[in-house]
Amino acid sequence: MSATSFPEGALSSVEKASRDELQALQLKRLQWTLRHAYANSPMYRKKFDAEGVHPDDLKELADLRKFPYTTKQDLRENYPFDTFAVPMEQVSRIHASSGTTGKPTVVGYTQGDISRWADMVARSIWAAGGRAGDKVHVAYGYGLFTGGLGAHYGAERLGCTVIPMSGGQTEKQVQLIQDFKPDIIMVTPSYCLNIADEFDRQGLDPVKCSLRIGIFGAEPWTNAMRQEIEQRMGLSAVDIYGLSEVMGPGVAQEFGSTKDGPTIWEDAFYPEIINPDSLEPIADGIEGELVFTSLVKEAMPVIRYRTRDLTTLLPGSACVMRRMAKITGRSDDMMIIRGVNVFPSQIEEQILKVPQLSPHYLIEITRDGNLDNLLVHVEARSNQVDAAERAMAAKELQHHIKVMIGVSTKINIVGEGEVARSQGKAQRVIDKRPKA
Ligand code: DLL
Repeated sequence: MSATSFPEGALSSVEKASRDELQALQLKRLQWTLRHAYANSPMYRKKFDAEGVHPDDLKELADLRKFPYTTKQDLRENYPFDTFAVPMEQVSRIHASSGTTGKPTVVGYTQGDISRWADMVARSIWAAGGRAGDKVHVAYGYGLFTGGLGAHYGAERLGCTVIPMSGGQTEKQVQLIQDFKPDIIMVTPSYCLNIADEFDRQGLDPVKCSLRIGIFGAEPWTNAMRQEIEQRMGLSAVDIYGLSEVMGPGVAQEFGSTKDGPTIWEDAFYPEIINPDSLEPIADGIEGELVFTSLVKEAMPVIRYRTRDLTTLLPGSACVMRRMAKITGRSDDMMIIRGVNVFPSQIEEQILKVPQLSPHYLIEITRDGNLDNLLVHVEARSNQVDAAERAMAAKELQHHIKVMIGVSTKINIVGEGEVARSQGKAQRVIDKRPKA
């Protein structure tokens, strides 16, 4: 089968599959995944043994609930490579995302995983309305983040022409869109609005640009934002969802024909919704935390991975696979600032590196136009720390946060006792960004 014919073929066979056929495939793949993880991943062998479960205990899909959840903490404890279920020489790519502190969360892919990931993203672009021959401008960041390379390989697989622009250099983004005339843009929705602003700044009308489709994800966005982008850029805006631990972009994709929430590619990822407090599974149609089990991953299978994303499972519309509603929030304190995942604990770690500062801090997030701004209020270690030392400490903290976490911040150093103390769980974040 040629590369260009794959996604259409794959999608139509999926559309023809009945729910029963899909579930039979999921069961077979789930049994393979559990066996593979137990036999080859030290982390899963330990977890299953501790829980007294064995891959043979999975006779039907519902048996999955006997198996333990996987968390970011598990991945951290097995940093960097003990989560892998294949020998290192079979791992052909590493990506990483934010850990809750210091060390990033590491993920690995075999050649086969990279190829199946490309298939999933190709299928996603196809569902969005893209076709072989389209030009795709990729403005997700390239590098350890899965966005750029994930989109890139998928667009190539579909038979598109890829423009690997990556993030940043907004003026150049506009120039290349004007000159190369791409059909599709893949970018975070907030950065797309920046690009639209840059068109305006240059006296160009973004509605007249060549873009027909925008495939937006990596951060939460609302239907109001969809309308704004569609009106300003004159394109069809659809949602792509994914996370590094489960694969990267292309775990779920909204169809351009229905625009009713991302369809989860259930032949590769088995979804569950749980109550984040009791950890009990929840029925479809009720909001809770999304949990994924990979069905075809070799290098790093994940079993019942807690995404911390809050959403609802909905029945299939464009095809038999189920959809997810737009993400409404998270069950942990992760923030997404200009597309970068940030945990308050990472900021705290950087504060503690500066001797003039104390760990009493409050993070304030605001939105200025389309840009998120992060302001860290933090107390000086003592009132003896004078104005000049405070200014130096602020500079140092700003630098550490930029280098280690990758976001720009403003720092406000206040006197002892000026950050409100909590009666219980400290409130570390005030999010003043407008809600939908
Ligand atoms: O953001 C992968 C990705 C890249 C998805 C490009 C889509 C497009 P991580 O850096 O691991 O991976 O961050 C994953 O981002 O758990 C969600 O909280 C959030 N997220 C991703 N897509 C969406 C979306 C990539 N469409 C975390 N809507 C996830 C809302 C999203 N939140």
